[in-house]
Amino acid sequence: MGRLEGKYALITGGTSGIGLETARQFLAEGAAVAITGRSRERLEEAARRLDGPLLTIVSDAGDVPGQAALAARLQEEWPRLDIVMSNAADVTHLPIEEWTDEAFDKLVATNLNGPFFLVKALIPLLSRQASIILVGSVSAFIGHENAAVYGAAKAGLLSLSRGLTYELKERGVRVNGLSPGPTLTDTFKSLGPERQAALYEELRRTVPLHRIGTATEVAKAAVYLASDESAYTAGTVLRVDGGIGELAY
Ligand SMILES: NC(=O)c1ccc[n+]([C@@H]2O[C@H](COP(=O)([O-])OP(=O)(O)OC[C@H]3O[C@@H](n4cnc5c(N)ncnc54)[C@H](OP(=O)(O)O)[C@@H]3O)[C@@H](O)[C@H]2O)c1
Repeated sequence: MGRLEGKYALITGGTSGIGLETARQFLAEGAAVAITGRSRERLEEAARRLDGPLLTIVSDAGDVPGQAALAARLQEEWPRLDIVMSNAADVTHLPIEEWTDEAFDKLVATNLNGPFFLVKALIPLLSRQASIILVGSVSAFIGHENAAVYGAAKAGLLSLSRGLTYELKERGVRVNGLSPGPTLTDTFKSLGPERQAALYEELRRTVPLHRIGTATEVAKAAVYLASDESAYTAGTVLRVDGGIGELAY
């Protein structure tokens, strides 16, 4: 029997990287899974790579009023929701001089406001013992190049794991953060091969475990947080980051 047998799980941003791999592992563990993304094409492409009971829903995590529509769609399809993984993110990294109000607001809407209002809209659908996983980042804990705005929004998101667990604990709902360090996904592809190679070299030097992580490793932690194995884990942050958020190198 799978570790998520009979559970219903929503993953935002499930068309690539950590979200896609987590969808694959949740399905393999027996869950029914809904994934979101911004385009029908990419959702269809992801669906071709997944096997099992899957819903694909076009939804922009930064569209704050749109989170209620996502919740309503799930309410039409499923009797309840047992797992929510807020994974979609705006990963824009810029020096302070290049930030505009609009870009700042878009990032914060996607990485903080959207996830908060999604959880709010999903409350009526959440089962007792539901698990909510908020995907943060090591950038919430350490300063690094061009990551001030991204890191601040992720710090806010991870803080919600405490505040929302407090608010939802009488319903049996627990909320935890999952904080990846550098992880090999499409996010890095946009840099192009040369900058990517330089970054990997830098990470091999600076990550205490001397390597970049994999989406598989982060997804395994998500399975743990989603499953009843973590039933006594609430309001905390699980770091899967090769030690870079905690250790000197
Ligand atoms: N990779 C790393 O090194 C790393 C490190 C620390 C934290 N993280 C965090 O891990 C999470 C996953 O990152 P990843 O590396 O797996 O990224 P990725 O491979 O680029 O995947 C991002 C996913 O999010 C979706 N997405 C992006 N913006 C969205 C929006 N506004 N609304 C809905 N979906 C959206 C994308 O779908 P579409 O493009 O199809 O819309 C895609 O499915 C993010 O929260 C990121 O901040 C990653």
